Amino acid sequence: MSSIFSYSINVMQLTSREIRQSFLDFFSQRGHRIVPSAPVVPHGDATLLFTNAGMNQFKDVFLGVGKRDFTRCADTQKCIRVSGKHNDLEEVGYDTYHHTFFEMLGNWSFGDYYKTEAIAMSWELLTKVWNLPIDRIHATVFRTDDESYSIWRHYLPDHQIHRFDEKDNFWEMGESGPCGPCSEIHFDRTPDLSGGPLVNKGVPEVIEIWNNVFIQYNRKPDGTLEDLTAKHVDTGMGFERICAVMQNKSSNYDTDVFSPILKNIESLSGKKYETELESKTGIAMRVMADHIRTLAFSIADGAIPGNDGRGYVLRRILRRASRYSRNLGFHEPVLWKLVQTLVDTMGDIFPELVEQQVIVERIIRAEEDSFLQTLDRGLERFGDIERSVRASDSTTVSGEDSFQLYDTFGFPIDLTELLARERGLTIDIERFNSLMQEQKLRSRAARKAHIQQVELPSVDASTEFVGWNDLSSESTVLFVKDNQIVLDRTPFYVEMGGQQADFGEITVGGNRYGIIDVRKSGDAIIHFADSDIEHLVGDTAVATVDSRRRWDIQRNHSATHLLHEALRRVLGNHVQQSGSLVAPDALRFDFSHFQKVSPAELLEIEHIINDKIRERFPVLTLELPIEEARKIQGVKMFFGDKYGDKVRVVIIDEKFSAEFCGGTHVSNSSDIG
Ligand code: GLY
Repeated sequence: MSSIFSYSINVMQLTSREIRQSFLDFFSQRGHRIVPSAPVVPHGDATLLFTNAGMNQFKDVFLGVGKRDFTRCADTQKCIRVSGKHNDLEEVGYDTYHHTFFEMLGNWSFGDYYKTEAIAMSWELLTKVWNLPIDRIHATVFRTDDESYSIWRHYLPDHQIHRFDEKDNFWEMGESGPCGPCSEIHFDRTPDLSGGPLVNKGVPEVIEIWNNVFIQYNRKPDGTLEDLTAKHVDTGMGFERICAVMQNKSSNYDTDVFSPILKNIESLSGKKYETELESKTGIAMRVMADHIRTLAFSIADGAIPGNDGRGYVLRRILRRASRYSRNLGFHEPVLWKLVQTLVDTMGDIFPELVEQQVIVERIIRAEEDSFLQTLDRGLERFGDIERSVRASDSTTVSGEDSFQLYDTFGFPIDLTELLARERGLTIDIERFNSLMQEQKLRSRAARKAHIQQVELPSVDASTEFVGWNDLSSESTVLFVKDNQIVLDRTPFYVEMGGQQADFGEITVGGNRYGIIDVRKSGDAIIHFADSDIEHLVGDTAVATVDSRRRWDIQRNHSATHLLHEALRRVLGNHVQQSGSLVAPDALRFDFSHFQKVSPAELLEIEHIINDKIRERFPVLTLELPIEEARKIQGVKMFFGDKYGDKVRVVIIDEKFSAEFCGGTHVSNSSDIG
């Protein structure tokens, strides 16, 4: 069995576990607080689908809006790079050093040390503690960063320092956010030390192992750079890569990070792992070993495969891995069986994996099961498509066929692309994208048709909502048109977050009008009356909500919060609200789960909710600055929602449920009745 290139240096021999620990010890001895990895699912940052760098959890500190009680810290961070600015998916399996999931060892300075000390510490760890040979180390700096260049000159000769432009040496976490010039450390594994010209050329012999980013700007959503008030250091070292370098392996998959998973795949498949890049068995095993880490860690942190956004990224990864498992001869779900190896080898570093093991295995297995039901038929259909493409002397799979594979057989487009690539075919991606777009428009139109269309006037007025506590208000009329009336203040709730609008009445100029709907237009709240309203702008009106209806709605809304938490406790933390209806006579709560809720689980959920109602817990609504609200233990917020500086948090029994919510609630759980 041959390796892709031979490589050996005389360096201290450490296991991956020892390398991780030695990194953390080194920085701890230099005044750094060792912090836990943030979840790989960044709840609360709508700019990211997955945590893609160690610095994500400190974004608020860099931007000057958050604080920590330390100015130096270090950790190993779980990262996923499969979408957005940093996306390595295509390479994975086909090379030896890109991963969808990886650990990033990092150290940070929040306005504390800067370039000189950061580079000095990197140098000391690499060359003094770990004894990496100096003649194999290359540094890169941003083209105009003379300061970093001259710092590196203390350690390295000119021919081992290289200047690069924005593409390689200006680091940004995404389209917006903290960023700055960076200085990378690359390691030369060529036998004759000829790697200098290969730095940043995408070859496995010369790889980046560590990046020191000097955070000094904020990239704003409009693309401009804004100076930060303080200067910070953000570093990231690819853990799997440094393990390969130190363990004299030319491939990350040959290190002890991956060998236990590969061994497990070998024993399940009865096939031997082959290190050659072209080997079909090798590619399939590498893809499975890589993808299972992304799946297991993200599901353990609360994500779940689904049809859009983050969920669809996971579904694509699972289907990609599942199809490769077929190349090894697996016809039954197998990926879930690899979770145990991760628990055994990484469970002590990332305890969430142990805590969530059962749920992670069940979700992966159920997803595999459902995909395997269509995989065979889809592969057969692909075979037919291939034959007809060749019969017509073409090499292009049409957009229509790709769309059918997607729509009928659940083949994500990258899976079809992969099958095509393996057979020397391409696909008409433009036509596929336009068919996808058409489907989206069709379903959007279908959804819209359900919503009653009302032409809302644009009203240059703003209404204050006073209905948190008051069900009646004396107000001034700001606008009237036909049966629509706008007041300066109102107790009427506009339908939002599933909670239905209030009904009631408004008295103005001695006339009473029944209010049968309420909508928002800009900052104005428009009440719809059951008859046309006399034009009396400037007059005083009395607005009164139907208290019986509101009371019932509130009871159902608080009950929804109890249900949400009970579902999570019984079924798992992956349960997230994907829609809800809170009406006076009923509530509905939509969520995804990988199987039918069993009668026993249902009973347990009912018990939990009924207990909370009987135990008479106060229901508190707090208005808090967003940063403070986020820190509440177990608080539920909605990914993708935009929150202002202040948010309302509804808490039922301090240790039970806390949830961001703009709705109205009862004041004691027993009121749910
Ligand atoms: N934030 C540093 C890196 O990801 O390279």
